[in-house]
Amino acid sequence: MSTSNDLAPQVHLVNHPLVQHKLTLMRKKDTSTNSFRSLLNEISMLMAFEVTRDMPMLDVEIETPLETMTAKVIDGKKLVLVSILRAGTGILDGMLTVVPGARVGHIGLYRDPKTLQPVEYYFKMPQDMQERDVVVVDPMLATGNSAVAAIERIKTLQPKSIKFVCLLTCPEGIATLRKAHPDVPIYTAAIDRQLNAHGYILPGLGDAGDRIFGTQ
Ligand code: URA
Repeated sequence: MSTSNDLAPQVHLVNHPLVQHKLTLMRKKDTSTNSFRSLLNEISMLMAFEVTRDMPMLDVEIETPLETMTAKVIDGKKLVLVSILRAGTGILDGMLTVVPGARVGHIGLYRDPKTLQPVEYYFKMPQDMQERDVVVVDPMLATGNSAVAAIERIKTLQPKSIKFVCLLTCPEGIATLRKAHPDVPIYTAAIDRQLNAHGYILPGLGDAGDRIFGTQ
């Protein structure tokens, strides 16, 4: 899988053809809830490849059928996937398929429709966050306000590192997140044109939560 880093440092565009093909299918307005969810699941597995690329590894001694060797394993338990409710669940499921040992945190934020500012209603993280690497997941980095608030809250627990994974973003979302948290790399499958007046990404894919859960 290849990434391009030339748009801005710390913004990783996951431009692998499989990811781009599946994203195009997800964007189409006639794609069913069932297909949308499956595609998000598949893309999330592919994006997990990118975001875990530099994960620390441990050496363990194992027996092959022929001899003893020292081999590498990842310490999945050190990784925490933090889902921004509710749409983050769509990415979480796919990532857990490939990193089943990861711990999971949840943060509930809703966007006040008038101010577009995030309001927290739920926060639950694993123990010992100081020892863990965090990957925050939310399909849409739009205004960036929820991501900024979620990361601010997670930082109070002093994890070792934080990365942010989304499916789609736009220049406004990137700028807001980069300004507040320049130390947090962003992984995305696309950077769309702009936000509209309601905080939706254009051309985008609509409301990710509604499309994942069929609630529209
Ligand atoms: N949240 C969504 O679900 N879609 C957008 O376009 C922006 C925010």
